[in-house]
Amino acid sequence: MRVIEFHKYGSADELKIVERPRPVPGPGEVLIRIHASAVNSGDWRVRKADPFLVRLFFGLRRPRAAARVLGSVLSGVVAETGTDVHRFQPGDRVFGMSDLAMGCHAEYICLPENAPITTGLESLSHAEAASIPFGLHTAHHFLTPLSLQQGNRLLVLGASGAVGSAAVQLGKSLGCAVTAVTSTANIELVQSLGADQVLDYTRRSLADLKQSFDVIFASVDHYPVSSLRPLLKPGGQLVLVSAGIKDMLLAPLRSLIWKCQIHTGVAAVSQELMTQFRGLIETGSFKPVLEKSYPMHAVAEAHRHAERGHKKGNIALCLVD
Ligand SMILES: NC(=O)c1ccc[n+]([C@@H]2O[C@H](COP(=O)([O-])OP(=O)(O)OC[C@H]3O[C@@H](n4cnc5c(N)ncnc54)[C@H](OP(=O)(O)O)[C@@H]3O)[C@@H](O)[C@H]2O)c1
Repeated sequence: MRVIEFHKYGSADELKIVERPRPVPGPGEVLIRIHASAVNSGDWRVRKADPFLVRLFFGLRRPRAAARVLGSVLSGVVAETGTDVHRFQPGDRVFGMSDLAMGCHAEYICLPENAPITTGLESLSHAEAASIPFGLHTAHHFLTPLSLQQGNRLLVLGASGAVGSAAVQLGKSLGCAVTAVTSTANIELVQSLGADQVLDYTRRSLADLKQSFDVIFASVDHYPVSSLRPLLKPGGQLVLVSAGIKDMLLAPLRSLIWKCQIHTGVAAVSQELMTQFRGLIETGSFKPVLEKSYPMHAVAEAHRHAERGHKKGNIALCLVD
């Protein structure tokens, strides 16, 4: 099978297509033929070891052998099952995540049957299905524990990206009045996802909003945390999705002094969640946002696109010729 490997942290030019033996599913595992994956912020961050913390998980000097294939999301078809597999059978169409184990930028992957994967989404293309889990699981992880009430005011910074576009949609489905911060080119997109109000950050500053919010969901780190404080209602909640280590460590102290709740961390995912996401899509409460698909040989170009930080939702990597 073909896989996309990188052996050194660095630019997109480090990514190479190589041949590897196809994996064989062990007991409790499924072998999936991956039709599409996505290139996300997580992929280029690991490729560049940015932030440095990446090295603690993926290899200090260079990526460990088990971490040389990027890609955390997939849409594909079960090709084979190992012994003791009860939830899936060959031919099932599946979508989901390998999460931090990565490995989805390959033609095949073996995953435990209880991995965050589920069947369904036949009505979508594989590229569309692969564009759902990364942003949705991140937005879901941070927004659902906040006990949002009908009519709560939610401000989403970076509203057109993979995570932001999911946060806008999820916020609307939870009954919030959503204000989206984005650039001119993406105003229509965020409105189509349900944003009630839009601020074009290329023309106006956050101070022009002249209102305060119950929740600020910052999926970008372009705004100093202290500049967000005046926009938060007393007792409000601030979600810093892309917080660096300093802002993570300061969060408890700032929460205390600013009399608000600041949330940081790394999003987690499960099979139950993926099944819930399928329901959101089937009922029309969530739509995939896919800007572009790249063939496997154009993976470096796809990485450069993602790394520029201006994706409209997601970009897919197609792994079937
Ligand atoms: N904590 C976690 O578990 C977790 C999980 C996933 C992702 N993340 C982090 O979350 C961040 C976002 O990820 P992503 O995948 O959504 O990235 P993305 O798809 O590349 O989206 C970035 C978005 O930021 C917008 N943007 C750029 N400059 C902006 C500005 N000055 N003001 C407002 N918006 C601006 C861009 O919109 P325009 O084109 O309109 O500028 C773009 O849509 C990344 O830093 C990633 O590492 C964290």
